[in-house]
Amino acid sequence: MNPIPSGTTPAPKRVLVVRFSQTGQLDAVTDRILEPLLADPGLRVHVETLRPAKPFPFPWPFLGFMDAFPETAHLRPAPLAPLSLAGDEDFDLVILAYQVWFLAPSQPVTAFLQHPVARRLLGGKPVVTVIGCRNMWMMAHRKVEGLLAEAGARLIDNVVLTDPGPTFATFITTPVWLLTGRKRGFWGMPDAGLTPAQIGGARRFGLALREALARDAERGAGPLLGGLGAVEAQPRLYFGEKVGTRSFYLWGRLIMALGGAPGSLRRKPLVLAYVLFLLTLIVTVLPVSLALQALLRPLFRARLSKIKDQFELPSGSARDRCHLYDA
Ligand SMILES: Cc1cc2nc3c(=O)[nH]c(=O)nc-3n(C[C@H](O)[C@H](O)[C@H](O)COP(=O)(O)O)c2cc1C
Repeated sequence: MNPIPSGTTPAPKRVLVVRFSQTGQLDAVTDRILEPLLADPGLRVHVETLRPAKPFPFPWPFLGFMDAFPETAHLRPAPLAPLSLAGDEDFDLVILAYQVWFLAPSQPVTAFLQHPVARRLLGGKPVVTVIGCRNMWMMAHRKVEGLLAEAGARLIDNVVLTDPGPTFATFITTPVWLLTGRKRGFWGMPDAGLTPAQIGGARRFGLALREALARDAERGAGPLLGGLGAVEAQPRLYFGEKVGTRSFYLWGRLIMALGGAPGSLRRKPLVLAYVLFLLTLIVTVLPVSLALQALLRPLFRARLSKIKDQFELPSGSARDRCHLYDA
């Protein structure tokens, strides 16, 4: 590191924040993380809000929602409107916030990661990913890891915020939220989405990042957000995610081959057939996989704990530093 001559102020560090949010949930999370960074005169923050060239609807119409899965699962996203960056800008740290769609990163985020401008921006840069989703994010994370590696970026932290409700309740409340806009819980089920406390608590990551940037820690191998409860993997969902990903992939290929472009009339019966298949999968394979795992847990303990450790990299689930950043 070059010593700074006395009397000169170091140039502000530059942080790039890439984000997209349909309901505003992930924007609320990134806003909390950004608060401490924006308040720091030693930092300059550029927020790149991704805008699909043709906006995705919210709330989603039912068939339109399901019609989006083939391209999402195959990482063939709809194009973005032009970015505000040219690709020759230099950032010290990149924060990439994304939500999961169909066990893959959302289409706008995939489109960004595949964009030639992003590839230039991300080369060699430390990246912190921030996921806000229902609760199935492991396969999406793998895909994002792959896309970041292709761009030559260094993933140094991963923060994951998931809906706290029980899996089976969120299988109902999340689609109702996305298809009707109703977030409030019903029939005794909790509200869909993250709680205000989870969103507010994301500020601790911004505080820790500010501190880490002040001591140039982003130049190391990371993580910067260890001990902050950044991610808690649920390995029992792993096998369901594997099966789901496979089925999105195979059916997606079939639908794209026989049905033409997204939204075309020919796709509708195929998409409907898949919905029936998927519902069957959710009410059979998922509970059977969860029940089998509960029964066979002693046999699988080592495997499940390995999956947990693997997916909690690099930031980890430990919380020993949380008290340092309590508001
Ligand atoms: C098309 C679509 C598919 C989704 N698929 C998943 C999924 O596979 N796993 C998951 O945990 N959440 C899934 N979600 C929920 C999102 O990850 C996210 O929680 C929700 O869309 C709110 O995000 P936003 O308003 O910040 O965009 C999906 C949402 C949409 C719109």
